[in-house]
Amino acid sequence: MQIKKVGVLGCGLMGSGIAQVSAVAGYDVTVLEQEQKFLDKGFAGIDKSLAKFAEKGTLKEPVEKIRARLKGVTTQRALADCDIIVEAIIENVEVKKETFAALDAIVKSEAIFASNTSSISITEVAAATKRADRFVGLHFFNPVPLMKLVEVVRTIATGDAAFETVYEFGKSLGKVPVRTSDKTGFIVNRLLVPYMLDYPMGPFTLLDFVGLDTTYYITQVMFDEFRERRFASPPLLKRLVMAGWYGRKTGKGFYDYADPSNPIPMKF
Ligand code: CAA
Ligand code: NAD
Repeated sequence: MQIKKVGVLGCGLMGSGIAQVSAVAGYDVTVLEQEQKFLDKGFAGIDKSLAKFAEKGTLKEPVEKIRARLKGVTTQRALADCDIIVEAIIENVEVKKETFAALDAIVKSEAIFASNTSSISITEVAAATKRADRFVGLHFFNPVPLMKLVEVVRTIATGDAAFETVYEFGKSLGKVPVRTSDKTGFIVNRLLVPYMLDYPMGPFTLLDFVGLDTTYYITQVMFDEFRERRFASPPLLKRLVMAGWYGRKTGKGFYDYADPSNPIPMKF
């Protein structure tokens, strides 16, 4: 099926970004919110972001032309003729199920439903509708206008046609889609969430703990070996080392350890 009209549920952090990239890619976009004030907030964010891209000259069309393809609504009926619905509302399984069940009775039957959930089972939400074969996960990353990756998630009930259509839709947004299955956390959050939660120290505390001089030498050895930018020392790390601020062991680094029991973040 050909996608022309995109419906987005929620105009928060993610929904506004999804609406923006869809409009930039040429789709007609209708964004549903609970109240006008949330639409106003989301659209203000879109305007700010589009202005930044326009300033850099990376948009193929004038901002007004892109904006003219974006419409905000507060009634579900306004989404009836969309070809795809991308949901980015609160991360609550019951609310997502209720919302999709209601839309199932309103939106044309051939339309595809997609959820941007970070963690909820796509299978469970899809089962609240009668179109589980046309239901996928479409997991974008924040901030959507800048992050290239999007995970396209299939359940055991997802049909090939819907899955491939959404994969191509992801590409048409200028994203790099990856195919994955409906396992909690998909690929990225399965790796990212334990990284964020498991470590007893945040990255800057840990850098100061290891020693910034030692870290700087490590980056040199690794950059020399791999020649990849991500191993190159950031200029700030080099300057901290040149200043002799090696972290906890010298009393200063990313934090000031004048009172070691109460490190204070440095202001650079
Ligand atoms: N729209 C347009 N341009 C934007 C923008 C936006 N929304 N946000 C930032 N920019 C621009 C800035 O104007 C700036 O442009 P210049 O270089 O011309 O000044 C440039 O992007 C860089 O921004 P900043 O200088 O403000 O900050 P930064 O260098 O730290 O970059 C960032 C911002 C790209 C967001 C970067 O910090 C980053 O990549 N952060 C990691 C984001 C990430 O990992 N996201 C995934 C989160 S996990 C998730 O989303 C999954 C989930 O389920 C929870
Ligand atoms: P958010 O709180 O910024 O936005 C959610 C918006 O949905 C709010 O503006 C709210 O008013 C609206 N909303 C709630 N119920 C609604 C309904 N029934 N109909 C229409 N609009 C409704 O949240 P967010 O960060 O944009 O997250 C949205 C979804 O995207 C969640 O499922 C989240 O897990 C997922 N997600 C978030 C991120 C992230 O980094 N924030 C990344 C990827 C995926």
